[in-house]
Amino acid sequence: GQITLTMIKPFAVKQHNVGQILSDIEKAGFHIRALKMTQLPAEKAEIFYAEHRERSFFPQLIEFMSSGPVVVAMLQKDNAVADFRQLIGSTDPSEAAEGTIRRKYAKDKTRNAIHGSDSDDSAVRESRFFFSSMEEFVY
Ligand code: GTP
Ligand code: MG
Repeated sequence: GQITLTMIKPFAVKQHNVGQILSDIEKAGFHIRALKMTQLPAEKAEIFYAEHRERSFFPQLIEFMSSGPVVVAMLQKDNAVADFRQLIGSTDPSEAAEGTIRRKYAKDKTRNAIHGSDSDDSAVRESRFFFSSMEEFVY
């Protein structure tokens, strides 16, 4: 799989960490195929995170993810999904390795700075959720 989908989450956007996070992503060798800023209405966030709807943290996750703008990007690299999850670090920033994006920019398990797809199938589904073919570029 060459594609993964990322979202810089509301807290990191509000902290003005977008530029530094995109820089970290490009320096790690990811090619930005598509990019936008948008805000998810709760109903859209519920669809994006539907796999978690029975979890206790789901209402908090949806409230947070719809609380402000996110920066969404489709990224290309060999082994994109696994390499990107290594770059961002553990879900809980207190467990994230030194130098990872979550270690550097996350506040806690909800305000954890960034999303990364968990599989090639998720990457395709999430990319179609946000982008049309006219918004995707290889350059
Ligand atoms: P995403 O890239 O956002 O999908 O994170 P992830 O793949 O590292 O974690 P997962 O898909 O399991 O969970 C999605 C999001 O739900 C996480 O990023 C967290 O913000 C939140 N979450 C997951 N587990 C917990 C938890 O135990 N407590 C809280 N408060 N939030 C959680
Ligand atoms: Mg996930």
